[in-house]
Amino acid sequence: MSTPYQIAVIPGDGIGVEVVEAALTILDATGVSFEFNHYEAGDDCKAKHGVALPDETLKGATDAQAVFFGAAGDTAAEVILRMRKELDTFVNLRPSKAFQGAECLYPKTNIVIVRENTEGIYMGLEKEINPGEMHATRVITEAASTRIAKYAFEYATQNEYDTVTAIHKSNVMRLTDGLFLKCSRTVAKDYPNINYEEQLVDSAATLMVMDPYRFQVLLTPNLFGDILSDLAAGLIGGLGLCPSANLGDKYALFEPVHGTAPDIAGKGLANPTAAILCASMMLRHFGELDAAKNVESSLETAIANKQSTADLGGSLSTMDMAQAIINHMKG
Ligand code: NAI
Ligand code: MG
Repeated sequence: MSTPYQIAVIPGDGIGVEVVEAALTILDATGVSFEFNHYEAGDDCKAKHGVALPDETLKGATDAQAVFFGAAGDTAAEVILRMRKELDTFVNLRPSKAFQGAECLYPKTNIVIVRENTEGIYMGLEKEINPGEMHATRVITEAASTRIAKYAFEYATQNEYDTVTAIHKSNVMRLTDGLFLKCSRTVAKDYPNINYEEQLVDSAATLMVMDPYRFQVLLTPNLFGDILSDLAAGLIGGLGLCPSANLGDKYALFEPVHGTAPDIAGKGLANPTAAILCASMMLRHFGELDAAKNVESSLETAIANKQSTADLGGSLSTMDMAQAIINHMKG
């Protein structure tokens, strides 16, 4: 038997725990060998140990070949933003692809958001200047903008997308988004086979709702990518369907786009699809393409058969949906 892949599993809080359990069951069923080491982080961890992201968890994450994360509640920034930073995962890759048979606004949506993951207004550089006056700093650098643009064009090339659209607000944020666009344009010149377009973030939001099929790969600064990926989730049927990968030169961390969903947590109602797609992204990351395709096509079949949770029009629980998917898997 091959050496198992070492995975640091951090389920976190709320439905994070439920969807991670479902995804690990699917990974076990692929036949690919994994060793899952579980670590604590999040609100419950903070209540228990006084810290949302213990050193032991961070060490487990950096020692592993990949991290599989669920969601954290109020402590999300302390947990996930810190991990993205410590692991220097400069890419946040967020595909939103509609499933056949799932009710949604736009059944042919296939949008991938390539979000810069280390800077922008998301760095949390905020301070109180005076009572009643708070300032936030938005950092955009040539180095980070260039490396994320390169990733977007490489991703488009390797995954057969024709178009990369840079999202910005450079008419207002002339210096920061001006630099982001300048770097995007420079990188675009090295990829003559990919169409390069630019769109203001506000009009991109309208166009994504009215005509999402015009978009393929969106290259975005940090906060715009966060917002537009939730919008993209809405086009295909909700947050339960959207996975993400945080990728750097050394580390990889996979997590659903959604949070802890306190409104449905603990009831077995959470859709495990986002976490299962995270599992298939992780399999692809390791080059386990057959296993990834097996998971993806079984998931598609289950959703098309309405063997799904209530948000997709089915009546199964989280774990029953996972089991239905396993029943469709080959091998
Ligand atoms: P949320 O993503 O947890 O939930 C938004 C809505 O989508 C809710 O109605 C929820 O029921 C639904 N939803 C989300 N995932 C679903 C799934 N798998 N299946 C079915 N329905 C699903 O976002 P919200 O409500 O804004 O935040 C709740 C908590 O999660 C907050 O404490 C927030 O800080 C945290 N959060 C953590 C994130 C992370 O750890 N990366 C990301 C986003 C939010
Ligand atoms: Mg978000």
